[in-house]
Amino acid sequence: ALERTFSIIKPDATRRNLTGKINAKFEEAGLRIIAQKRIHLTKAQAGEFYKVHASRPFYDELCEFMASAPIVAQVLEGEGAILKNREVMGATNPADAAPGTIRAEFAESVGENSVHGSDAPDTAKEEIAYFFSGLELVG
Ligand code: CMP
Repeated sequence: ALERTFSIIKPDATRRNLTGKINAKFEEAGLRIIAQKRIHLTKAQAGEFYKVHASRPFYDELCEFMASAPIVAQVLEGEGAILKNREVMGATNPADAAPGTIRAEFAESVGENSVHGSDAPDTAKEEIAYFFSGLELVG
């Protein structure tokens, strides 16, 4: 079914001017960018977004990193968009990511891994709503 997922191009990637190359990967996979904005999160905003990871040892480092430079927040739409986006991103750790995936090609480490994507329909809905209003989604 036609689905929407939430995506972030992370600070390590915006710093290296990789937004266009990453977006090309999404579009080549049949994902349509129906909303997109470049924003610079505060550490508190990053902490709220990643609150499910609050008890993890890397949480503070993750929030610092996500607030260290602009991100590009996006909504991607397509057939099976959630799973498709996860395939295009590759494994969280770039060392485990399949050849040709975004993380295999661009990620620097498990923390600075270039992209975030929702893992399930309920989180996709929640994450889209954290960054975008309904009026900003242009399918
Ligand atoms: P993401 O899909 O955005 O969801 C949570 C993030 O935490 C994950 O991608 C990684 O960037 C980060 N992360 C996961 N494991 C580690 C780790 N061991 N050290 C640092 N960051 C991590």
